[in-house]
Amino acid sequence: MDNIRRPENMERITTPALAKAFIEEQLAAIKAQVGDGKVLLALSGGVDSSVCAALISKAIGKQLICVHVNHGLLRKGEPEQVIEVFRNQFDVNLIYVDAVDRFLDKLAGVSDPEKKRHIIGEEFIDVFAEEARKLEGVAFLGQGTIWPDILESEAGIKAHHNAGGLPDDIASRFELVEPVRVLYKDEVRCVGRELGLPESMVERQPFPGPGLGVRCPGAITRDRLEAVRESDAILREEFAKNGLEGKVWQYFTVVPDFKSTGIKDGKRTFDWMCIIRAINTTDVVEVSVEHLPNELIDHLVKRITTEVPGINRVLVDYTPKPPATVEYE
Ligand code: XMP
Repeated sequence: MDNIRRPENMERITTPALAKAFIEEQLAAIKAQVGDGKVLLALSGGVDSSVCAALISKAIGKQLICVHVNHGLLRKGEPEQVIEVFRNQFDVNLIYVDAVDRFLDKLAGVSDPEKKRHIIGEEFIDVFAEEARKLEGVAFLGQGTIWPDILESEAGIKAHHNAGGLPDDIASRFELVEPVRVLYKDEVRCVGRELGLPESMVERQPFPGPGLGVRCPGAITRDRLEAVRESDAILREEFAKNGLEGKVWQYFTVVPDFKSTGIKDGKRTFDWMCIIRAINTTDVVEVSVEHLPNELIDHLVKRITTEVPGINRVLVDYTPKPPATVEYE
């Protein structure tokens, strides 16, 4: 199924009716491809893998086995949401792998950004391959590949890993099932909505594969990682309350491995700083900064410095891309 291409004249899926027709078509295609076989899928909770899982599960029910790897670098509440939506709402066969200690132990003391990314990527493949080896009689691998992935791969911009970069002994066992392969991102969201996925999942902001790991610059420690996760949760909550959710393209917090002096309850503190980044873009090549209302910034400073342990200072990053990249590592 590696050669399926988006038809030149394919209508852009922008309405529930078009999404419904696409879903019907894919359900038939998945059933025809898989028959009574089993499909394995790495479910990160991102838009593409979630829509892919929902589609395949609708087509073949319990013949789909999803694996959700919690590497400890997910946002607050994300693993719980994946479990809730896919186990309870979609009744999917979901294997939850708590690999938090495994990832954080491997990352301990590693401060080089590329090394960190490499460890996270490699470890993810190892964990998933271990789960795949445990399962017998699975001939298919579901993948949330989307049309821009194919185009970027063909243009040599981004390597699109067949079978998610799995080792050959595993990858060669599988035939790929890629039901959203011909769709653009906005179409994937439209299909996801029609499938009944929650809005928070369908409209999820882009989130890097190495997760909060790249927002905890320097060697990751559990307490600083928690400070990133908690401050990110506060930021998301406040953006939602202030009507900015879905309007600003991406927003997050960063807590570098750097401390400064402060004062709390009349005593000196020596704690980290939290950086707020909110950006807009259409192509991710050029990025502009979202200028936040002063009252919102004041409120965020107050909440983050009082509610997040280890933070005594908040900064707002107003640097576009270029010269800065979106992420810090
Ligand atoms: P940069 O930092 O390159 O980020 O300006 C551009 C966009 O890409 C996201 N990003 C990633 N997404 N895996 C991903 O799937 C990654 O390793 C990764 N690194 C950055 C980033 O969040 C931003 O939206």
